[in-house]
Amino acid sequence: MSILIKNIKELLQVRETNVTIVKGEDMKTLPTLKNAYLIIENDTIVEYGPMSEYTEYEAEEVIDATGKIVLPAWCDSHTHIVYAGDRSQEFVDRINGLTYEEIAERGGGILNSAEVLQNTSEEELYQQSLVRLNRVMQLGTGAIEIKSGYGLTVEAEMKMLRVIKRLKKESLAAIKTTLLAAHAVPREYKANKTKYVDLIVSEMIPEVAKANLADFVDVFCEKGYFDLEDTDRILAAGTVHGMTPKIHVNQFNAFGGVALAVEHNARSVDHLEEMRPEDIEALKGSDTMPVALPSCSYFLSIPYSPARQIIDAGLPLALATDYNPGSTPSGNMNFVVSTACIKLRMTPEEAINAATINGAYAMGLSNQYGSICRGKKANIIITKEIASYNNLPYAFGDNLIETVIVRGKILKKEV
Ligand code: NIG
Ligand code: FE
Repeated sequence: MSILIKNIKELLQVRETNVTIVKGEDMKTLPTLKNAYLIIENDTIVEYGPMSEYTEYEAEEVIDATGKIVLPAWCDSHTHIVYAGDRSQEFVDRINGLTYEEIAERGGGILNSAEVLQNTSEEELYQQSLVRLNRVMQLGTGAIEIKSGYGLTVEAEMKMLRVIKRLKKESLAAIKTTLLAAHAVPREYKANKTKYVDLIVSEMIPEVAKANLADFVDVFCEKGYFDLEDTDRILAAGTVHGMTPKIHVNQFNAFGGVALAVEHNARSVDHLEEMRPEDIEALKGSDTMPVALPSCSYFLSIPYSPARQIIDAGLPLALATDYNPGSTPSGNMNFVVSTACIKLRMTPEEAINAATINGAYAMGLSNQYGSICRGKKANIIITKEIASYNNLPYAFGDNLIETVIVRGKILKKEV
């Protein structure tokens, strides 16, 4: 299968050499080509250039992108899309005055989702998750990370991971898998959290590794969940078993989790709504990607990550959705990019870099995804006719995407 996209008004994120991460000042630059063409063969970008240099090419499918913008599909490096049911009742409880933390203390929150998931069949869980995955792909996401963490028993965590494996097999999206057994302390371990950490370290991680079901290991490092010692043990055990650390950190409280994650050579540190100067210092000179999740801040009405401070300190930043039933029941990367510009004061160039190449980096995928580069996978968004790429974040809540191509296949529009 070959696709020619011609007369592209502007082709974004064009990288002649394979850049894998964009940091600090460089995030302000989004390289583009005006009046361009792009050629895809099978699942790969094989050629692009200005229309003035275009020579006749016989493609099976030709798309005229006059007035339209073309960019790499979004790379969403932090989601929990495998879950059962929803938590809309807790949403109403929060409107009526309870906080996210109070709901969790009453046994709601993650434990609520875990109970529902444990009682949902693997087939049903797969079907519910597939609907979410297909929906976010329609919204332009072509690569996605998916976490476990609503199982909280060996059996239920394995069930979640098998569902992710099946999604990976059946879907065109590039999928990376994360073991997040340390998402909450199950009720039966309430009085003995260390025993649950023991179970994660000595049973769950080895079993998951043996079945080759996870690329990353993650911990919700937060007051009332897992402390620095627990986090240290879990990240170390994951690393021994070939899983790269990632971490939920500084969402509500900052107490050293960022530096600890950097010590463990984490691929990313995610949330970062509460950042101290020493947390920013700890990230300098590391290979760890800070990840902001603005739609989580929006939904919970908590502070937004200080993107300006992070980027102005010379660090990179990625943007992701955090799609989950409790804190972010939305997987719309377009809304994330808009919110990053509106609330985090990122420029459109910074936000697009953060949601493409840096998102790919946060999943260890930036060699193959996240930019327009010869030899990279053909994950592409074609917009409707728009005045400029600034309109993507500007027209928040609007859907300006006309066509999504994932691994060289044009997605059929869902009605
Ligand atoms: O990333 N903070 C921890 N985990 C999720 C929320 C999980 C839930 O409420 O179900 C998050 O926001
Ligand atoms: Fe999360």
